[in-house]
Amino acid sequence: MARHLVTSAIPYINGIKHLGNLVGSQLPADLYARYLRGRGHEVLFLCATDEHGTPAEIAAQKAGEPVAEYCARMHKVQAELARGFRLSFDHFGRSSSPQNHRLTQHFAGRLDAAGLIAEVTERQVYSVTDGRFLPDRYVEGTCPNCGYDKARGDQCENCTKQLEPTELIRPRSALSGATDLEIRETKHLHLRQSLMRDRLLEWIESRTDWPVLTTSIAKKWLLDGDGLQDRGITRDLDWGIPVRKGDEPWPGMEGKVFYVWFDAPIEYIACAAEWAEAHGLPDSAWERWWRTERGAADVRYTQFMGKDNVPFHTLSFPVTIMGSGEDWKLVDYIKSFNYLTYDGGQFSTSQGRGVFMDQALEILPADYWRWWLLSHAPESGDSEFTWEGFQAGVNKDLADVLGNFVSRITKFCRARWGEAVPDGGEWGARERALAAALEGRLRAYEAAMDAIEVRRAAEALRAIWVMGNEYLQAAAPWATVKTEPETAAMQVRLGLNLVRLHAVLSRPFIPDAAETIMAALRCDDWTWPGGAEEALSVLPPGHGFAVPDLLFRKVSDEEREAWRARFAGAR
Ligand code: MF3
Ligand code: ZN
Repeated sequence: MARHLVTSAIPYINGIKHLGNLVGSQLPADLYARYLRGRGHEVLFLCATDEHGTPAEIAAQKAGEPVAEYCARMHKVQAELARGFRLSFDHFGRSSSPQNHRLTQHFAGRLDAAGLIAEVTERQVYSVTDGRFLPDRYVEGTCPNCGYDKARGDQCENCTKQLEPTELIRPRSALSGATDLEIRETKHLHLRQSLMRDRLLEWIESRTDWPVLTTSIAKKWLLDGDGLQDRGITRDLDWGIPVRKGDEPWPGMEGKVFYVWFDAPIEYIACAAEWAEAHGLPDSAWERWWRTERGAADVRYTQFMGKDNVPFHTLSFPVTIMGSGEDWKLVDYIKSFNYLTYDGGQFSTSQGRGVFMDQALEILPADYWRWWLLSHAPESGDSEFTWEGFQAGVNKDLADVLGNFVSRITKFCRARWGEAVPDGGEWGARERALAAALEGRLRAYEAAMDAIEVRRAAEALRAIWVMGNEYLQAAAPWATVKTEPETAAMQVRLGLNLVRLHAVLSRPFIPDAAETIMAALRCDDWTWPGGAEEALSVLPPGHGFAVPDLLFRKVSDEEREAWRARFAGAR
């Protein structure tokens, strides 16, 4: 048994996330956390809302609400949707927590003591019309790197380049649209990342098992001409974590707050502290996950995120961790994802194009979405959501393959022997061959899950589901029963055990269906399979069960077309 810390990129507080956001971090993180728990490991799975910075302020302003109230309300909304999708966080925290205030100020103090902070007089974009500085997303314009015309002042969504607002071409205020922008001077703190360049490069280059998507983005920012630049970590905003050096004030920085991307990753740590507090546990309970000298040296830490988040997790956050000079846990594996596109275009929050988390759960249960999204996770490149593809995934994989097998075998048993596992004696050659083949597929499934290759894991699981129908088709107990009722009974016994195994293996992908199956089988033995033979003998002869209700319904062509029209845009 090992100890695994798993975090998902923490979603911005503003608005409800779409399915592309979900499949890019929270959902695969949940898959992995559930798998590790299934294997018997000790897991701490954390996520939170990312509540500071311009996205929060702008959204609160649009909602006409004070920003603190807006964040509290939206946190509840996001927590409820996470429950709806069965995201099994041990804690869903808030980056605005007192724990994060303390830790962020603590790290800033340590980094300053280590000489990694510079006080710089900066030229910032000032809007005469708005009467204020316009940090980050308060400015929009054209990306100097790729020419994308809706680049934001902190980062270009299109090419992932981190930007300064002053770099944007044809800048405009995101607040008012004003273009009468000036450059004015104001004092800010910079994180001197460039001093850590060699150490970061050595670290990244030693991570030979990381996905290429992760290391290539990191190396691009370390090796390209303008390489790793020092970055501002403070802002002229009201909402955020006040700039302090640990417990001390920071002279000259009064009224300023830390930049959202400085405090957000620190929330991964603060969230563990929030988790401990919520459970009435002492600090040592969370420190054993985060401080290598207090037990975290044997923790394996895995982060999940979309590709636009990679620079912050491979560069700036490691600078915070390493630069503190303290024994904080550094990430062991970074799993990053490309984008999910929607029906020939992009998901768009502003245009309401695509399916959002709340809408998805209104039309179908979580498992349907989890299965399709995870089996189409954008790993090697972007992948596309289409309604045809979704319909096919649900109808074929879930209804025809898994659902049909469970229904056939349980109903046949009920009709012929009643609702209890029949006996029928020893296995024959076909059953031994099935167990041997299953053995290989089980290990292939585990290997894919261990490597966090989500699509490959889904394929391996589906291949195991298919074995059930193939076995039933070949053994044909409904025919065998006429001449060899004992053999037929044995075949059905094996089939029912295979149903249980499907539930155990499928739980990380489709937890509700797995639990429905196990409840119907009156079984709470979720033990992960060792050998296939043993795993197919868990339910003994005479064990009572009930035929489960329909596991998965099909999506009709009419529904598919109605949904396509409904989600085409203008929410
Ligand atoms: N809120 C960011 C986003 O949705 C992710 C923050 S991840 C963290 O893109 F590292 F900052 F926590
Ligand atoms: Zn760009």
